[in-house]
Amino acid sequence: MSDKNNPYSAPDTGHVWDDSLRELLNQPPQWWMIGFYASMLLVVVYWIIYPAIPLATTHTKGIKGWTAVGEYREDMAAIQEVRAEYEGKIEALATNNGNNTSATAAAIMQDDSLSEYVVRSGKVLFGDNCAACHGTEGSGNQGFPVLNDDDWLYGGTIQNIAQSITIGRTGSMPSHTMSDEELSKLTSAILAGTPSNEPLFSEKGCFACHGADGKGMHALGAANLTDGIWRFVAADQAESVKHTITHGVNMPGNPQSRNAVMPKFGGGKLTNTEIAKLSVYVHKLGGGQ
Ligand code: HEC
Ligand code: HEC
Repeated sequence: MSDKNNPYSAPDTGHVWDDSLRELLNQPPQWWMIGFYASMLLVVVYWIIYPAIPLATTHTKGIKGWTAVGEYREDMAAIQEVRAEYEGKIEALATNNGNNTSATAAAIMQDDSLSEYVVRSGKVLFGDNCAACHGTEGSGNQGFPVLNDDDWLYGGTIQNIAQSITIGRTGSMPSHTMSDEELSKLTSAILAGTPSNEPLFSEKGCFACHGADGKGMHALGAANLTDGIWRFVAADQAESVKHTITHGVNMPGNPQSRNAVMPKFGGGKLTNTEIAKLSVYVHKLGGGQ
């Protein structure tokens, strides 16, 4: 404390209460007073430059004519300009490829800056049309496949993905009736990742769709049974596998059958270019081949 703030030497107003309680006359420091007046000045400058004072039906506009909405519109116009350039390129690619979705998607993939644009802008398209089932950024949902891993039912090439989106997918596996013992044996072999070691795997005809090695078949959407990645996930995975074997997938007439339908987005629901963009987006989620 400087002497200036020493209460015993500071001047006072002469008012004294309770014998010794004096009202002091300490001026605030000069730097503080300068700041105080400067802030008053700033308010006036602000009033002049920016919209500020409300009037009966309008308000003062300020000499810069700035508004928050105006700034937003300018930003949007700038974004639209950048977009128009990329969208134009994509349309040109689509035309060059006879509007073929997977060829357009493949062509987008050849161009790094276009791919990057599609990955960024595809997020909204994916959020609007796909995320309800497949989760944000394809992270998967109970009963719906993960799209950002390397495991594909129908294949992970850009063509496979474009086809999945265009025509939709309905995996189909028949229900199987077998003894509890057989069911347990098959399930243990599948959980161990070695279904083909179990003779029942060929005896019951599983190999016809899941392949002799149990690694699945993209043409049928038959899941890989050796990789420990589950299409139908459950806390009790053994029960889940048994359920799938017993009731099959998309079997009409069996209400306990697994329901696995990917709706088709071709034929008008989405445009060819939108599907091409989504194909690239899904491919780039990390699991494309
Ligand atoms: C109503 C739910 C639903 C919506 C919406 C949906 N899907 Fe699917 N999708 C599925 C299901 C279910 C499957 C798995 C089909 C199967 O198991 O046979 C699937 C499968 C896929 C596959 C194949 C995955 C693989 O492993 O081969 C791709 C790719 C795909 N969806 C992309 C999309 C895209 C892109 C969109 C948005 C345009 C979308 N899906 C919208 C339910 C949905
Ligand atoms: C007609 C073809 C077909 C036959 C035969 C078949 N499956 Fe499947 N299976 C599929 C398809 C397709 C799927 C994936 C369904 C989907 O997601 O749309 C599947 C899925 C599964 C799943 C779920 C895998 C997971 O990741 O959750 C298991 C387990 C399974 N099959 C086991 C078997 C066993 C065991 C047999 C023999 C008893 C068998 N399947 C016979 C086509 C078949």
